[in-house]
Amino acid sequence: HVSQLPVEGRRVFVRVDFNVPLDKSGKVTDDSRITATLPTLRHLIERGARIVLGSHLGRPDGKPDPKYTLEPVAARLADLLKCDVALADEPTGDGARKVVADLRDGQIGMLENLRFDPGEEANDDTFARTLASYCDVYVNDAFGTAHRAHASTAGMAKFVAARGAGFVMATEIDKLTRLLGDVERPYLAVIGGAKVSDKIEVLDALLERVNAIVIGGAMANTFLEAQGKSLGKSRVEKDKAGVARTFLRSAQERGVAVHLPTDVIVAESLDASSGTVVGLDGIGAAHMALDIGPATLANYARIIGDARTIFWNGPMGVFEKPAFANGTVGVAHAIADNRFAFSVVGGGDSAAAVVAAGVADKVSHVSTGGGASLEFVQGLDLPGIAALAS
Ligand code: 3PG
Repeated sequence: HVSQLPVEGRRVFVRVDFNVPLDKSGKVTDDSRITATLPTLRHLIERGARIVLGSHLGRPDGKPDPKYTLEPVAARLADLLKCDVALADEPTGDGARKVVADLRDGQIGMLENLRFDPGEEANDDTFARTLASYCDVYVNDAFGTAHRAHASTAGMAKFVAARGAGFVMATEIDKLTRLLGDVERPYLAVIGGAKVSDKIEVLDALLERVNAIVIGGAMANTFLEAQGKSLGKSRVEKDKAGVARTFLRSAQERGVAVHLPTDVIVAESLDASSGTVVGLDGIGAAHMALDIGPATLANYARIIGDARTIFWNGPMGVFEKPAFANGTVGVAHAIADNRFAFSVVGGGDSAAAVVAAGVADKVSHVSTGGGASLEFVQGLDLPGIAALAS
């Protein structure tokens, strides 16, 4: 752990996950992944470390792309810490070397988007060695990227003798590990989002651990259609009906209750200013199901209230549109209102919903990881964590 590492006067590479959402003008719209790292950074600043930050932003595909510069991120960090953050113009090379060489004790420099170099995602040894040459100590605080075996998250660790987890990484491991052991029951998973294909692995793995699963979002449409319902123009993965049916059968065999919507909010367009509540037999040919309905929400809230361990990932509807946010916000409130449960929210959308609902401090843990938290709760080994241990 970073608190046990010799950092004073040393160059400390901190891999952070500053892959944050930006608006069209390039402004950071949610800085929670940046604020999450402040304890690690302040710890290092106070101890006089020379901090070299590395992160990716988006998927620039191995080449420089101004759309994905870390500039706005470095600016936000500088605001939050009230100190200068020098941004190199490249992930490696002369500019990067100079930023690192110019650091004084307690100062921060940042490399440009690591995914501007194809070596990052390829976990290339040469690129990893170059990154390692910028530091004496390696700290991984990028839990959100711990499921990627990339040069900065995994490969470079073996080239730096002193290495450890930052505070974000350590807290995430601590909280999420509680979902893998002897949990208090009932253990409920609330899973939403657009696609069954994105979530089927986690759904299958959760069957081994949970007592019940509540499903929402467009992926629920696929399950409902697989059960013979007419979904009109709703988003449905036609080719996943078999996968959905197989999943429902295995859940039944294992005695895991799977709850699906019994009513939905429909509209003829995503841009509609309001929707209509209909039962599952009332979805018209021109309708799209865009949120769970009030009866479904009431049922889900009751199930959530009875749970003693809860993991939530994925919105219940198109929650970025106020007309279709009710289900997602309602689920956020139901989880926050359950004071007896150990509750973990993972994934950018569900985490944002908890913040928007004003209840982030009422859930046990809001994870900074999306894909990473999903892989963790499946019990998979995350390369970014494994690299610190070996
Ligand atoms: C995330 O946002 O889940 C992480 O930053 C990983 O990003 P990636 O899916 O592009 O690897």
